[in-house]
Amino acid sequence: MQILLLGKNGQLGGEFARILPQFGTLTAVDYPEIDFTKPDALRQFVGEVQPGLIVNAAAYTLVDKAEEQPEIAEAINATAVRALAEESARLNAVLVHYSTDFVYDGTKPTIYVEDDAANPLSVYGKTKLAGDQAIMAAGGAYFIFRTSWVYSVGGDQSFVTKVLKWARHHKTLRIVDDQTGSPTWSKALANLTAQVIAKGGDTCYNFAQDHGGLYHLSGKGAVNRYEWARAILALDPGKAEQIVEEIVPASSAEFPAPARRPVHSPLSCERFEKTFGIEVPPWRAMLEKAMAGK
Ligand SMILES: NC(=O)c1ccc[n+]([C@@H]2O[C@H](COP(=O)([O-])OP(=O)(O)OC[C@H]3O[C@@H](n4cnc5c(N)ncnc54)[C@H](OP(=O)(O)O)[C@@H]3O)[C@@H](O)[C@H]2O)c1
Repeated sequence: MQILLLGKNGQLGGEFARILPQFGTLTAVDYPEIDFTKPDALRQFVGEVQPGLIVNAAAYTLVDKAEEQPEIAEAINATAVRALAEESARLNAVLVHYSTDFVYDGTKPTIYVEDDAANPLSVYGKTKLAGDQAIMAAGGAYFIFRTSWVYSVGGDQSFVTKVLKWARHHKTLRIVDDQTGSPTWSKALANLTAQVIAKGGDTCYNFAQDHGGLYHLSGKGAVNRYEWARAILALDPGKAEQIVEEIVPASSAEFPAPARRPVHSPLSCERFEKTFGIEVPPWRAMLEKAMAGK
């Protein structure tokens, strides 16, 4: 099977670059080799690769910057995704794509399920929702995995790596305790996706036609950012390097940001677990493995 991975250098894409070769011949690309702001070139590229499976880990993920660059966010998260979904349908390929908890407004007091109404608060959330809708309208076989609070332990962009860095440079950390979500380790997310692909096996397309759709897929359970930060620091294998003395709960109002975020957006993974018979680990178990480098 020809497999096309888009966004190979991102948190999630980096994990897929390592695990997708087991399923076939992998073509893995990222910006600038492929530019999602140029949908015609993207279509042509997909046509040349002729994939049976497309994994799209590319996205415009700068949530605050998207407020100043709505056209670029729309081009990457919606217009390009529509092109990808249409090409995928034309080739009878399976499209695997990732969405976000930021499509919800966070006003639901309990955990979000896939049938809950989306009502994004930010440009990022709106453009990601438009991408989801474009895939659903294209008529092809797809899996949309709606995930949340994705982190990796390499790089320096995720909340986990930022907290570890702050704890080495500051004696006091102020972390908001009024945002609740489901933290998701990028490696676990890629591995869970790979288990679904493996279930499809040689008949991946038929499997996706029968079982494709929208699924929540995140670390199971919910935590606020303050408690998450405490868990990260407690599990830090380099604890001796920390100089932090106190972690103080704070309010989001103390850290004004251009983009509005849902205050409460934990995701239920029940549909995923029941459909595929795959157990999703709790967010803390994912974090333990991530911090232990497993
Ligand atoms: N991170 C989260 O907390 C989170 C939460 C919920 C859902 N998600 C979703 O999960 C998926 C993976 O997220 P992630 O955290 O792994 O993202 P990421 O680390 O930001 O990676 C995104 C990748 O897309 C590439 N990209 C950006 N602009 C592009 C363009 N014009 N053309 C082609 N590629 C471009 C980036 O390249 P450059 O680095 O060169 O820009 C990067 O390699 C995304 O769909 C995201 O929306 C993420």
